[in-house]
Amino acid sequence: MSRLAVIGAGYVGLTTAVCMAHLGHDVHCTDVSEDRIAMLRSQELPNHEKGLVELLRQGTEAGRLSFSTDNAAAARSAEFTFLCVQTPQGSDGRADMSYIEQAAREIGPHLPSGSIVVSKSTVPVGSTHVVERALERSDVTVASNPEFLREGSAVHDFLHPDRIVIGAADESTAIKISALFLRISAPLVVTDPPTAETIKYACNAFLATKVSFVNAIAALCEAVGADVRQVILGMGYDPRIGSEFLRPGPGWGGSCFPKDTAALIRIAENAGYDFGILKGVIASNEDQRQRVVAKTLRSVGGSVAGKTVALWGLTFKALTDDLRDSPALDIARLLTDKGALVQAYDPTVTQPIDGLAICEDPYAACAGAAVLVVATEWDEFRWLDFTKVREQMATPAVVDARNLLEPAMLRHLGFTYEGIGVI
Ligand code: UDX
Ligand code: UDX
Repeated sequence: MSRLAVIGAGYVGLTTAVCMAHLGHDVHCTDVSEDRIAMLRSQELPNHEKGLVELLRQGTEAGRLSFSTDNAAAARSAEFTFLCVQTPQGSDGRADMSYIEQAAREIGPHLPSGSIVVSKSTVPVGSTHVVERALERSDVTVASNPEFLREGSAVHDFLHPDRIVIGAADESTAIKISALFLRISAPLVVTDPPTAETIKYACNAFLATKVSFVNAIAALCEAVGADVRQVILGMGYDPRIGSEFLRPGPGWGGSCFPKDTAALIRIAENAGYDFGILKGVIASNEDQRQRVVAKTLRSVGGSVAGKTVALWGLTFKALTDDLRDSPALDIARLLTDKGALVQAYDPTVTQPIDGLAICEDPYAACAGAAVLVVATEWDEFRWLDFTKVREQMATPAVVDARNLLEPAMLRHLGFTYEGIGVI
């Protein structure tokens, strides 16, 4: 087994560190945040992620997993150093590489000769050269190993990947990195770094395109009187299309799709290619939030000014506590800007959020509400007592931006119901 350093203990870094320790490697994971490291050292998780705390305890108790804020110490004994710091969206849409460069400059002088540095963060095409320059080490190799994990199923996705992608300039580096994943059975895609970096962006852009497409089909269904749920069924049977990622909703969000699609537009532009189709995907995604707001206004007679709106869900999707670029939050803000009092409930959100009334339970969020908006597909919402919900509300109107609830049941209980492309 190998000695690894993982720089950055966020969603990707922490999952990588904990899972690599689970695979039997010795892992030293670092983060600049002392609070985050203190939590991890006391075997607590900073984020809600299924199955992660068990593996964190297993690795720590086996002595294979350790945490610190000391990048130099972690790098000094590492045969492989994984860079997992954030690459947020810069003001011009480009991926901000400053954190990666900073981390590389810090570890550069301390890396053992012959060691390998692996970019796991989503970095623009050609970034291995940026890392090489920052390391200033001709005796250290830089490679790419993009991560495809989804929040909410990060551990499963890491240990059961659809494929493992390795971008390396030479075969021996690729072989050494692939050996780290020996205990995982998955297809191996070994290529050059720019191609590996492009695979990551292409995947996120394609998945975002698929979601924007089904949201557009839902809008068409509303216009022509068709039912998107049946349309999806008919589409999904074709294996060339597949039924995954065909769930209409309020638009995509999160820490990856928004920044990666914007970054890909810039990467293409810099290379002289106008990525028109992706610009359309982003534009229709922004439009999708507005469509949900318009439905909400329509369901209460045209204005939410001075009215209470119940909002179920704040995170960008279910099974995570991540609010980054959340469509639910955008919709809450758009409704607040139109004069609504938004009473929100999310199973993972207890802290106050500006402009919103955060409620302790979904029924309390419905108190005096003129309309209920379902913005995140938490399964628990499906099993609630809708007679009780109706009693709480001022008017029984539902806008289901996730097609999560059962229209017939709600209409039977006297609710008006609007879904996304549902007749
Ligand atoms: C990261 C990348 O940002 C993203 O591009 C990629 O798609 C997935 O991996 P994520 O793990 O979600 O995303 O980032 P984040 O949760 O923000 O974690 C980054 C961590 O790195 C933070 O905990 C931050 O404190 C830490 N960090 C940042 C360092 O330890 N050192 C630094 O110099 C900068
Ligand atoms: C995504 C990619 O799936 C993952 O491979 C990559 O490593 C990181 O980015 P994640 O950001 O966790 O993962 O979210 P994902 O599950 O992909 O959902 C992205 C957005 O699309 C969410 O807002 C989600 O609600 C939305 N979505 C997804 C839909 O609206 N409909 C769908 O059918 C699927």
